[in-house]
Amino acid sequence: MPRKIAIGNQKGGVGKTALATGLASAIASAGGRALIVDLDPQGNATAGVGVTIGPDDLSAYDLMSQTAKGRAADCIRPTGWAGVDIIGSDIGLANIESDGAPDLTWRLDIAFEDVDLSLYDAVLFDCPPSLGKLMFSALTAADSVIAVTEPTIDSVKGVTELEKTVEIVKRRQNPNLVFDKIVISKRRQTGEHVFREDELRATYGSLVARTMIPELAARQDAHSSRTPIHQFKGGNALALRIAYSDLLAELPIKLSNQIEAGEVIR
Ligand SMILES: Nc1ncnc2c1ncn2[C@@H]1O[C@H](COP(=O)(O)OP(=O)(O)O)[C@@H](O)[C@H]1O
Ligand SMILES: [Mg+2]
Repeated sequence: MPRKIAIGNQKGGVGKTALATGLASAIASAGGRALIVDLDPQGNATAGVGVTIGPDDLSAYDLMSQTAKGRAADCIRPTGWAGVDIIGSDIGLANIESDGAPDLTWRLDIAFEDVDLSLYDAVLFDCPPSLGKLMFSALTAADSVIAVTEPTIDSVKGVTELEKTVEIVKRRQNPNLVFDKIVISKRRQTGEHVFREDELRATYGSLVARTMIPELAARQDAHSSRTPIHQFKGGNALALRIAYSDLLAELPIKLSNQIEAGEVIR
């Protein structure tokens, strides 16, 4: 079964969604298949892969608003991206944060129970910018966590908070949860970014991925045009493609249908 990976940082704008869609693009371009689960009511990942949620469409809200074993299977939708499916979200998902149901934390986990995900090489939970109920649900249902951080003081603080939350979840509801990597994203060659990168590597050692995602305009252009970065032509997309594919190779994601080396589109 594929690894279910929660991509988080309570700070917004650090590149969580860009990482979820960028990794999905890297997996697909290597011949694999990814499922994105959009757990952010802002629905940026959903929009990014060209999906809109209509009133009758099942979405992440349907996983979270009731306890229903196996419900995730009904909510998966194809996207405009070859090799990438999604469980989408829209603003209605925000209502979950005020749901006081005692079983709320388990609903996402239960929704995936006995669902055959063998088609996928990875399931990526794109988490909201908070440590609220949706984030706890993601950590409860996930096998592992990736913390995304810009190399700035506030985002690094977000990593520390997320690390504490992961420890709490491990002790209480998901003892097998693994901290896969801290990924530095939106990296520029400035004094502050270099300083914070050094600080992160000194603090967290090999937990910090060697590959960093550079801050490049093509990332936003590809997102706005709803195009996977590995298919996006122009600008400095190549450096981003290389970064996401190199990062994928560092992560414990095994591709079952890997294209022969050399065929991978970069
Ligand atoms: N590597 C990058 N280079 C340039 N812009 C980026 C990069 N990663 C993300 N962005 C942009 O930064 C903004 C926030 O990124 P996003 O992935 O939505 O963050 P989050 O999901 O953590 O809130 C978006 O406008 C996105 O296009
Ligand atoms: Mg996001």
